[in-house]
Amino acid sequence: WATFADDVAAILRLKEEHNAVILAHNYQTPEIFHCVSDIVGDSLALAREAQTVEADIIVMAGVEFMAETAKLLNPSKTVLIPSAEAGCSLAESITADDVKLLRQRYPGVPVVTYVNTSADVKAQSDICCTSGNAKKVIESLGVEEVIMIPDEFLAQNIAKETGVKVITWKGHCEVHERFTPQEIREWRKAYPGLVVLAHPECPPEVVAEADFSGSTAGMSDYVASAEKSSRVLLVTECSMSDNLAVQHPDVNFVRPCNLCPHMKRITLAAIRHALETQTVPVTVDEAVAEPARLAIERMLAV
Ligand code: 13P
Ligand code: SF4
Repeated sequence: WATFADDVAAILRLKEEHNAVILAHNYQTPEIFHCVSDIVGDSLALAREAQTVEADIIVMAGVEFMAETAKLLNPSKTVLIPSAEAGCSLAESITADDVKLLRQRYPGVPVVTYVNTSADVKAQSDICCTSGNAKKVIESLGVEEVIMIPDEFLAQNIAKETGVKVITWKGHCEVHERFTPQEIREWRKAYPGLVVLAHPECPPEVVAEADFSGSTAGMSDYVASAEKSSRVLLVTECSMSDNLAVQHPDVNFVRPCNLCPHMKRITLAAIRHALETQTVPVTVDEAVAEPARLAIERMLAV
């Protein structure tokens, strides 16, 4: 407890001293999410908020692609990621050369790229999307077919919702791919009346078992409007339920979950160290930054 309180106090002081703000993703642990963050949200909200930060330093309590997106959208700021190892299985599944090959194979088909990718991959794309706006982004293109990379399950789930044909890539989120339809059916049997919310990075058979599917912010909003004393299962990363349980003590959360090892590399100690040493600064090569920024800005304009 002493270390925890000491880290929180130090982080609050260091933020003042260095004119820094902390942006935290919904998968951060409650002590980060509730005690030291200035802005919290899903990938889309963090990108939007990063654009208008006026402080000198942005500390991204999230993973690398989120820090890179913040840097692309607000390049004059110092963006720090508290762990250089906070990657993402989706971002690692595809390279810029893979996208070039896809374009050669499917000439003229627009490339819609999930934000969970490197700046290099975004730079080869027509437009980005997040789980919160994928449907809107795809529909905005007014085409019958898109290349939607790299999350195969998100692409399949969105194809079902929009009727647009998708050419997919075999990337998966290592957290969401582990959920199965059987386990959801078992939880429903154990808790009649259970409300099931699933992230669209889950396999389509899992999403088919849910009452609602949406981004982490979509799930948050759903819980906020749920009846008091409902029993809710969030089919997503573990910290989501922990954070929402603090905000909604009347809701009962069933807590099977899968941890994201990348998100969990960000700790209070790592954030404190980042602020003390101004590490690790995110940089994006200018030749890549310009087209990558364009793909994100097109998404934000939808
Ligand atoms: P959202 O918060 O945008 O739903 O994305 C979840 C995610 O994959 C973050 O790792
Ligand atoms: Fe990547 Fe999945 Fe972790 Fe999000 S939860 S950072 S998509 S591995």
